[in-house]
Amino acid sequence: MKSIDKLIKNNAIWADRMRQSDPDFFTRLAQQQSPKYLWIGCSDSRVPANEITGLPPGEVFVHRNVANVVQETDFNVLAVLQYAVDVLKVTDVIVCGHYGCGGVKAALENFRHGIIDNWLAPIRSLTRIHKDELSELENDSKLDRLCELNVLSQARHVARTTIVEDAWERGQELAIHSWIYRLDQGILTPLRNPTSSRLDIDN
Ligand code: CO
Repeated sequence: MKSIDKLIKNNAIWADRMRQSDPDFFTRLAQQQSPKYLWIGCSDSRVPANEITGLPPGEVFVHRNVANVVQETDFNVLAVLQYAVDVLKVTDVIVCGHYGCGGVKAALENFRHGIIDNWLAPIRSLTRIHKDELSELENDSKLDRLCELNVLSQARHVARTTIVEDAWERGQELAIHSWIYRLDQGILTPLRNPTSSRLDIDN
C-alpha cells in the first residue's frame, strides 16, 4: 500500500471508532460548529492545535501559516479572524508560536530563502527593533527569544485589528492569548496575561 493510501484507511478506522464511542457525533457536528476558540499557529507539522490542547473536532477554529504571522494586509488571516469573532463569537483567540520555529530561524539568517523572506519581513523587522536584547544571546537562546517576541508581536497585531477593536467597543467578551509551545517537551506556556481590552495591549 502506498503511504498516502494509509491516510484514507486510517480515516475509516477513526470514523468508526468515533461513531462507536458517540453514535451521534458526526450528525451533531454536521449541523453546526460553535467553537469557543480561535487558534492562530505555525504550519509546523509538530504543533497540531486540536491534539496538543486535547480538543475534539468542533472545538477550535484554526488558522496556521509559517511562523504564525498576523499582518493587517493578509486577507486570509483577516477573513478567519472576522468569521471567528463576528459570526462564531469565539471568546478566546490564541496566538501560539513554538520554540525552534524554522520560519523565525530563517528570519534571523543573513541569506536568501526565496519568497518566504517577504512573508517573514515582519519578523526580520522585530530582529532590528530588539537588536540590543538579541545581541546578548547566542544560537538557540537567541532563536527562542525571537520566537517569544514574535508571538507577543503577532498577538498585538490581532488586538489592533479593526475586527477586535470593534468587538471590544461593542462589549463583546474576547481575550487574546500569547502562548508558546516547546517541541521537545510537548508543553504550552502563556507568555503574558491575556489581552482583554484595548488598555491591556501594551501592558
Ligand atoms: Co514554526
